[in-house]
Amino acid sequence: MPRGAAAPNVAVLDLPRIFTIRESSHRILNPFTPEKLATVGAAIGLRPGAALLDLACGKGEMLCTWARDHGITGTGVDIGTVFLAAARDRATELGVADRVRFVHGDAVGHVSEEPVDVAACIGATWIGGGVAGTVALLERSLRPGGTILIGEPYWRAEPPSQEAIEACHANSRDDYASLPGLVELVHGLGYDLVEMVLADGDSWDRYAAAQWFNMRTWLDANPDDELADEVRAQLASDPLRHARYRRALLGWGVFALRKR
Ligand SMILES: C[S@@+](CC[C@H](N)C(=O)[O-])C[C@H]1O[C@@H](n2cnc3c(N)ncnc32)[C@H](O)[C@@H]1O
Repeated sequence: MPRGAAAPNVAVLDLPRIFTIRESSHRILNPFTPEKLATVGAAIGLRPGAALLDLACGKGEMLCTWARDHGITGTGVDIGTVFLAAARDRATELGVADRVRFVHGDAVGHVSEEPVDVAACIGATWIGGGVAGTVALLERSLRPGGTILIGEPYWRAEPPSQEAIEACHANSRDDYASLPGLVELVHGLGYDLVEMVLADGDSWDRYAAAQWFNMRTWLDANPDDELADEVRAQLASDPLRHARYRRALLGWGVFALRKR
């Protein structure tokens, strides 16, 4: 979910219901496929027993599958109660409930009690006011020599208009960097970029198009719900915004960083 797409209701510590409707069938709440998530896990040298912190963990797919595949342990923090319930169910389903735990809370300012091997924020860098602030936040939980994972959008091409910018969930062109701009930003923070896995058109479709299916399925079952008009409006506009702008203009990736 690009920046601004998931404005949380911090006052009641939960996410607006529209997100749980749109992403009801998703396990990964970003333009990533299970294969791409697994590629990141395989690429960063996870050891059995390694400790992870995942801020804004969503439905916990990263921690759960990496606990299964790599024997890691981990804590996920998220504001969305529906997402956290799905994360706990997934941990049980994959037989890793003794290795991962999911905490309901605001990730803003969250620092783990013990230093972790990998500190991650995948697709929610608003929790630190942007990439630099989120890296600084994650660093406070990281053991020396550990790895930071950041999931972040970037411009693949210059947006031609304000309409295009807004279709990409941004308010201004400056809300995202270009890919080279992101690499320079990370470098300037004193980190080496040691791995990256990028979304592509197909993985964007899995994220976006699955939301259209979820919205239509929900509308058919809940025509009189108070959110029906909002969901109907999003279903009417999002496919064209995706096809016209987002799919071509907006990149997204997971970036692995190690302090120099
Ligand atoms: C784009 S989703 C990414 C979820 C997960 N990292 C993934 O890749 O599947 C953003 C997540 O941020 C969570 N979130 C938003 N603001 C938050 C906050 N202040 N504290 C904790 N979680 C937050 C949302 O509930 C949502 O699960």
